Amino acid sequence: MRARVIALALLAGCGRGEAQTDPAPSATTTATAPLPEVDAELDFTLRGRAVRSLSKRELAQRIPPERVQGYDPYYEADKTFLALPIAAVLKLGFAGEDVDLAGTHYVLRASDGYTVPMTGEQLVGDGAYLALADVDMPGWAPIGSQKAHPGPFYLIWKDHPSLESHPRPWQLVGIEVAKFEDVFPRTAPSGLANDHPAWRGYATFRKRCIKCHAINQQGGLVGPELNIPQNITEYRPEEQIRAYIRNPLTFRYSKMPAAADLSEAQLDELVAYLSAMKDRKQDPKAKP
Ligand code: HEC
Repeated sequence: MRARVIALALLAGCGRGEAQTDPAPSATTTATAPLPEVDAELDFTLRGRAVRSLSKRELAQRIPPERVQGYDPYYEADKTFLALPIAAVLKLGFAGEDVDLAGTHYVLRASDGYTVPMTGEQLVGDGAYLALADVDMPGWAPIGSQKAHPGPFYLIWKDHPSLESHPRPWQLVGIEVAKFEDVFPRTAPSGLANDHPAWRGYATFRKRCIKCHAINQQGGLVGPELNIPQNITEYRPEEQIRAYIRNPLTFRYSKMPAAADLSEAQLDELVAYLSAMKDRKQDPKAKP
């Protein structure tokens, strides 16, 4: 019983302040008062069709939360979260639908515009968890100098600390079953020969950049759109683009992470991709 009350208190820990002064609401207040954190919903979408939304309360009632401990690269520390195995979350979210959860493709969307494409092979196979509460600090410890709030839903991994290979979208609002090509068709450098370097640049862009940047208004919204109305290569010299990608913090402090590990060849390919898109502008907002 005590464990259950603690779990409820943690789940209800509606962050940014309130929860710190009253970290343990009684079970009865939890049931009656509107609590933004426990009533926050996660949307499940199947190829453009809304399937259902589940609140944190429902998810925690239907799937037993586990304590998941491990190194968290955003906090740069060991953290313990109350979390649900993603396989169980997907099974519940897409119940009744004809979909091979481990074999399909997903797009994860966050409220700040962060958009991550990921295969089921990785999401289910590498064992992601959906964190519902921060056990170390009810109401969630803020992340980094920007004091970002990761709740109400934060995707974590137990044994994969690299943000490059295993992204951790916070403020998750939706999980969609969809192929990358179907969600972001306007981002491809279509029409080029298969061995054109722009295709390899596109592969890197899909893996490393699209979660924050849009091309032709498709992709993430954390960073600026890079193709319309003006393509980045039309107003920034190539050398500057390369240096910026390598280490943005030498230009200005921002949310863009450095990509110091990219080789010269990979930078060539990225620039080839960006510059190929200059001739493939599709602006949904442009007047006909
Ligand atoms: C975590 C989100 C994030 C990721 C991942 C990211 N960026 Fe950015 N990027 C940003 C933000 C935010 C800005 C705007 C920075 C600013 O305001 O100074 C930016 C700015 C840029 C700019 C400069 C635009 C301008 O006109 O000044 C370029 C070029 C760029 N990003 C390319 C890339 C490429 C290529 C990748 C992948 C290798 C990438 N970014 C990955 C968030 C991101």
